[in-house]
This record gives sequence, structure tokens and C-alpha cells, in this order.
Amino acid sequence: MRFLLVSCLLATGFVQAQTTTLDGVYTTAQAQRGARTYKTICANCHEGGEPDAAPLFGGDFVERWREAPLAFLYGFISKEMPSDEPGTLSTPVYQDAVAYLLQQNGYPAGAKEITAQQVADIRLVGEKGAAPLPASALVRLVGCLQSADGNWQLQRATLPERVRTADASTPEEVALSASTAAGEASYLLQRIESFSPAKLQGKKVQAKGMFDIASGKATLGVLSLVAAGDGC
Ligand code: HEC
Repeated sequence: MRFLLVSCLLATGFVQAQTTTLDGVYTTAQAQRGARTYKTICANCHEGGEPDAAPLFGGDFVERWREAPLAFLYGFISKEMPSDEPGTLSTPVYQDAVAYLLQQNGYPAGAKEITAQQVADIRLVGEKGAAPLPASALVRLVGCLQSADGNWQLQRATLPERVRTADASTPEEVALSASTAAGEASYLLQRIESFSPAKLQGKKVQAKGMFDIASGKATLGVLSLVAAGDGC
């Protein structure tokens, strides 16, 4: 039942009545300011100058950041970029840079500028709107670890949240998971044995890994597993 629930939610893109990046969440003037930052700073690395710096426009880019709050992308840029001097630009400059990336990735402009306060409430979706997570997306889940029918499962779990790193966690992330309330989803956990799940059975955990839907069931190929407070 619950597996079905999560698959339906995923198939429909969680049916959230939420503002998305298709709703015109930045202005043309803001994107123009962002273009200057892009050309003077970001393009030095992201147009071939730095082999690990992928292009910031195009389908692959959107694939890596969609089905998540815009805060996922904004947070990464404002904390990690420019990679040689992370976090050194001002909030307005980061906001404008994100507006420019949205424009260059085909999202429409609107009447209001993006601010850092709003990015948590705007969902970054693909050009056709909300869609299932891309195959092998890295996600974080919080729920109760249970063994049932010979399988490890995460029950009363949250909906998946995309992350950049799944094989390690920061203390802040684990604290956030500990303060996250139970959800209604269930997942099958795969490749969990090396994380000693028996020790955490019946406990609230944070599980990160590769998300997939196999035979209609939401599954997680586990890459990290830690206790995350009480509540199961
Ligand atoms: C000094 C080189 C450098 C500069 C300047 C720089 N970046 Fe990066 N950027 C990188 C590297 C290297 C990575 C890959 C690191 C990673 O993925 O953790 C990266 C990754 C990214 C990513 C993730 C790419 C993806 O699709 O997964 C984004 C978004 C990004 N940068 C945005 C920016 C923006 C916006 C600016 C300008 C404000 C900027 N970067 C300036 C080197 C740079």
C-alpha cells in the first residue's frame, strides 16, 4: 500500500501546488546583471577553463538539479562557488547569477526578482514541469528502519530530497534529519548490509543513496546510514 503511495506520488511529481521555475520567478533585468557576473567570473572555469566545471546550460545541468527546491542549487552556488574563493560574493550577486542560469536554461522571466529568502519555496522542475526523479538520483531519506519479510525497509519515511553527496554527511545534515518529522512513505533498502543495519533496527535513521523505482517499489541503494534522533 505505502509502496504504491510513494510510487504514485513520484509518478505525479508529488502533486504539489507550489511555485516552480516555470512560473516566472526572476526578472529580465536581474538576469542581465547575472550575465555580467557569469561572464566576468563563472565563465572563466565553466567554459572549458577548469575540466571539472561542467557547462551551466543545457539538459544535463537541469537533470542534476530538478525535482528539488531551488534552494538546492542556490545553496550550492552561494556556499561552494567560485570554487577558488567559495562564498565570497554578495547575496545579491548570487541571486542574480541564479536568475541568469534560469534564463539560459530556458525558464521564463516574470515580474519579481528572486531572493535568497524565497529559494526554499520555489521548485526547480524540468521544461515540462514536475516529473519523476531521474534514474540514480542521490537522495536523503529519514524514517524508521525495520526488517520485514527478509527485507530492510524504511518506514514512516519522508519524501526523497536530492543531495550532492550520498556517501557522507555533515553534522548539520544529521541534526536536520533528527529534527525532521516522520513521513508516510516506505522504501526498500538495498545494499545495506555493510552499514550494520541490525544495530539500528527500530530506530529513526537518515539513509542516503541512489533512488530508484524497481517493480513499482521505491528503493534506495544505500550509500550511508546513520541514527538520527528519536521518534520511531
Ligand atoms: C575557479 C573555477 C570556478 C569558478 C570561477 C566558478 N566555478 Fe562553478 N564549479 C567549478 C568546479 C571545479 C565545479 C565542480 C565541483 C563540484 O561539482 O563540486 C563547479 C561546479 C559548479 C556547479 C555545479 C555544476 C553541475 O551541474 O553539477 C554550479 C551550478 C556552479 N559551479 C556554478 C558557478 C557559478 C554560478 C559561478 C560564478 C558565480 C561559478 N560556478 C564559478 C569551478 C568554478
